[in-house]
Amino acid sequence: MSDTSSTIDLQGASTGDLAFLDAERQWTSGGWPVQGRNHQKIPLDRWLDDRLSAVRRKDDDDSLWDEREEDGTNPTGVCLIMSGRGWGKTKTGAQWVRRQAGMYPGSITHVIAPTYADLRGVVFEGPSGLMATIPAPCVRNLTYSPYPELTLWNGSVIRGFSSETPDRLRGPQATFVWGDEVSSWYKLAECVANIDFSTRIAFRKRDGTLVQPQKLYTTTPKPMQFLNDLIKKGVRLVRGSTYENRANLAEDFFREVTQYEGTQIGRQELHGELLDITESAIIKKSWLRMWPANEPVPWFEYIMVSMDTAFTEKTFDKKTFATDPTACSVWGVFKWEQRWHLMLLECWEDWLGFPQLVARAKREMKAIYGHREEAMFKPMVKDPHQGFLHHQQKKPDLLIIEEKGSGISLRQQLDKEGQSSWPYNPGNADKVARAHAVSHLPHAGRIWVPEGRRKDRTTGKIVGTGNFSEWSDVLVDQVCTYSGPGTTPHDDHVDTTTQAWRVFGDMFVSEGLDKKIPDTSQPQPQGVPPADPTSLVEDQRHDYLYQPEGRGERFELVRNDERLTDMPSTGRGAYDG
Ligand SMILES: Nc1ncnc2c1ncn2[C@@H]1O[C@H](COP(=O)(O)OP(=O)(O)OP(=O)(O)O)[C@@H](O)[C@H]1O
Ligand SMILES: [Mg+2]
Repeated sequence: MSDTSSTIDLQGASTGDLAFLDAERQWTSGGWPVQGRNHQKIPLDRWLDDRLSAVRRKDDDDSLWDEREEDGTNPTGVCLIMSGRGWGKTKTGAQWVRRQAGMYPGSITHVIAPTYADLRGVVFEGPSGLMATIPAPCVRNLTYSPYPELTLWNGSVIRGFSSETPDRLRGPQATFVWGDEVSSWYKLAECVANIDFSTRIAFRKRDGTLVQPQKLYTTTPKPMQFLNDLIKKGVRLVRGSTYENRANLAEDFFREVTQYEGTQIGRQELHGELLDITESAIIKKSWLRMWPANEPVPWFEYIMVSMDTAFTEKTFDKKTFATDPTACSVWGVFKWEQRWHLMLLECWEDWLGFPQLVARAKREMKAIYGHREEAMFKPMVKDPHQGFLHHQQKKPDLLIIEEKGSGISLRQQLDKEGQSSWPYNPGNADKVARAHAVSHLPHAGRIWVPEGRRKDRTTGKIVGTGNFSEWSDVLVDQVCTYSGPGTTPHDDHVDTTTQAWRVFGDMFVSEGLDKKIPDTSQPQPQGVPPADPTSLVEDQRHDYLYQPEGRGERFELVRNDERLTDMPSTGRGAYDG
């Protein structure tokens, strides 16, 4: 203890108390061997625990803690430290855990590292880790079974977890959580969900007041949705660069990392900058085109349903029987300006068992897409809804399922039940390669997403929102942030999208095909509706009803599932009403 010890009442303090206080004093107010830089002292909650008040300054002033309190409280209970390599993230996390566990006797803290090896080698036993940070007299017990669990002199427990096994986080509860290097976590989405569920004990202090759960994430950022979302939520954000900690870094390490100065990697690795996700994504959001809400929805020549099924060995957790969600997207091919284009018509993600998956796949193939607009001929006397409507009603033509893992069994089962499907074989190409292989399509402006619609309050008319339809967010967010494994919590739609685009590219865009589309601005032979269009097969009906220019005002992309039961495939449908 240094000079301040003379002003401290040592009565009633145990060796653990004293060692803890000394470590806290060194970190917050200076002295050998470490002193946290201002950014490294995390101002979360005030230290007010009664039991330790015995070792507070006699004059009871709080000057030791003033600096931390100035920064205010943290309403979200989450702090994100996003800084360059070697800034001291691990050290800071360990110091924070030491402080929380020391201040709140009997509290539980969970600590998560990317792998088991990191957990032991960096977070618990590393030079910046917990064992190097928590003074020996404060440690009552450290066990490995095989995950590390540290019990402190005051009864607080610090449990270690690896992001590779998120299910271990499911049962035990905690008040404090520290996640180190979150941007390198393996099962990020599951880990974060389990952390959020398990961080649910508010700590009751002696005076009866509660300390709410607090989470600290420390990482050198990678462009990923998770970090973007945290920052958007307004968590307490601490930023810092490698240069700040230069004094404590090895020369070689410093030379190695600073050679990236001035580059994109340098912005991220040295300055802890979160690079624009959409900028680094393989498929950029700005490449997608928005189909205006007040434009007639085009006539779809061909509709594809693309599914990414879960249940592979890799995504199946044998302990919990948990799977990744199955994802599905539906795409319509249409002619526009004498070229083939593709529009997103529907997308969803769902956790489905095999029987439900089979049923869902069959149902998707019976859904009807089209648009609804004003009646072309309004009957003068009868109900106007009985009129002849220019209205496409089309079922999907192709079901694309990846020829891999559960996709194979799904296809076999569907085949037995009379539903054919197209096996998509990606070969050895991984997600990244597949995304690159189709990125020329959005880049060339071939991919469309419908604009969102809302009712204008004053005019009552349907107007566009200026953004992509909300229902498409799940897909657009995934596809347009994906830059490699782990960049989005789920990336199932990257597969449904790239395989649909691939088939679209091969069937409609590859050389030559484009040129076959006739110029619609030239006079066209007019199709005359036959006396009884219902007698025609579905595809011919489309040709009879197709008008290149839309008329009327109300255009709406319509998906109709409900009518399926009473509508056999050769039945009515070309007429509305
Ligand atoms: N305030 C400090 N005072 C003294 N040494 C410090 C301080 N902060 C960090 N260090 C030391 O700097 C080195 C790097 O710290 P640490 O390992 O915590 O950085 P990091 O940001 O986690 O690095 P990486 O990006 O490699 O994970 C360690 O040796 C650590 O003990
Ligand atoms: Mg570290």
